[in-house]
Amino acid sequence: MARSEVHDQLDRPLKDLRISIMDRCNFRCTYCMPKEVFGPDYAFMDSEELLSFDEIVELATAFAHLGVNKLRITGGEPLLRKDVAQLIHRLDGIDGIEDIALTTNAVMLPRLAQPLKEAGLRRVNISFDALSVATFQQMSGRKTKPEAVIRGIQAAKEAGLGVKVNMVVQRGVNEHEVIPMAQFCKDERVTLRFIEFMDVGQTNGWDFSQVVSKKELYERVSTIAPLRAQEEDYFGEVASRYAYEDGSNVEVGFISSVTETFCGTCTRARLSADGKLFTCLFSERGTDLKSDVRNGMSATQLRERIRSIWNLRADRYSELRTNESAKQRKKIEMSYIGG
Ligand code: GTP
Ligand code: 5AD
Ligand code: SF4
Ligand code: SF4
Repeated sequence: MARSEVHDQLDRPLKDLRISIMDRCNFRCTYCMPKEVFGPDYAFMDSEELLSFDEIVELATAFAHLGVNKLRITGGEPLLRKDVAQLIHRLDGIDGIEDIALTTNAVMLPRLAQPLKEAGLRRVNISFDALSVATFQQMSGRKTKPEAVIRGIQAAKEAGLGVKVNMVVQRGVNEHEVIPMAQFCKDERVTLRFIEFMDVGQTNGWDFSQVVSKKELYERVSTIAPLRAQEEDYFGEVASRYAYEDGSNVEVGFISSVTETFCGTCTRARLSADGKLFTCLFSERGTDLKSDVRNGMSATQLRERIRSIWNLRADRYSELRTNESAKQRKKIEMSYIGG
């Protein structure tokens, strides 16, 4: 297949496509879908609004033609979508796609890890913010116990999927879980990435005082064992990676989207579950590609449309977040845009 690279205004190539396949979630994490906002009356998408698998494959193929080689399936909770393994299998068949990963809260992995692996999924990133029952339930907004996530982690490992754990750290909420979680992941031999609490969306009541910085997290984790910086795995990698220098060879990472921004190498596009293309996690609006697909736009036209959107892209929100105009933005929720 002839693949052409497309670059934006800041000369960043389009390499990753993050596809949200479901705006709903079985959790109500306070920093993502607070239950006061995402309550019983919240208007989630109707099933006919969601892109069908055919439509997702058609769009992903257009992106692959433009140089995308990595797909991430997100939500909401992507495993709530019926037959997700079938979708993975079809995406795995697209020319040029080298890596397919999925971000999940893991609760459904005991049933789905094996079929997902067989379908071509390589790895999962699992959101897990606390080991203690009280803090876990407080943050996830549900009565589910942390053991449910641990069973999901184990199922993923047994199925042969690569596993990383994502922990969002919020000052005064789960700071005390940093060392236990680092120790747990080290014992399990899975990579843990600490994520700085971000001001995504409009509903999570973000304030800078609640951000625990990479620097502070690094200092705390270094008390377990000294950390050695690792080379970047791929251009534009989100996490800065380290390995414990104690012979264990386990890695730990930091996603410092607030205190050390990484917009300069951001190669990520996001497709919402209803088919809108967003060129930044903090975008105010997206471009409706679903209508184009449903109106029968040809593959060439679709590709050129995406090319022209990416060509115009100049997003670098994390670098601008303290500007007054950035503060006024009406940002889309992360559960909608895809994490
Ligand atoms: P791999 O390195 O391939 O495992 O992927 P990843 O780190 O991109 O995946 P993951 O979905 O686990 O992302 C982890 C977290 O990093 C997300 O939940 C966000 O909090 C943050 N993140 C990912 N991409 C971006 C981005 O483009 N901008 C910002 N500001 N944060 C991002
Ligand atoms: N800040 C940082 N990370 C967040 N995530 C969701 N909301 C936020 C936020 N406000 C993370 C989740 C999950 C991924 C999809 O995004 O923990 O790992
Ligand atoms: Fe659901 Fe993940 Fe958002 Fe939590 S962070 S509410 S698990 S989508
Ligand atoms: Fe990319 Fe926007 Fe995140 Fe910057 S803020 S890294 S441009 S998604």
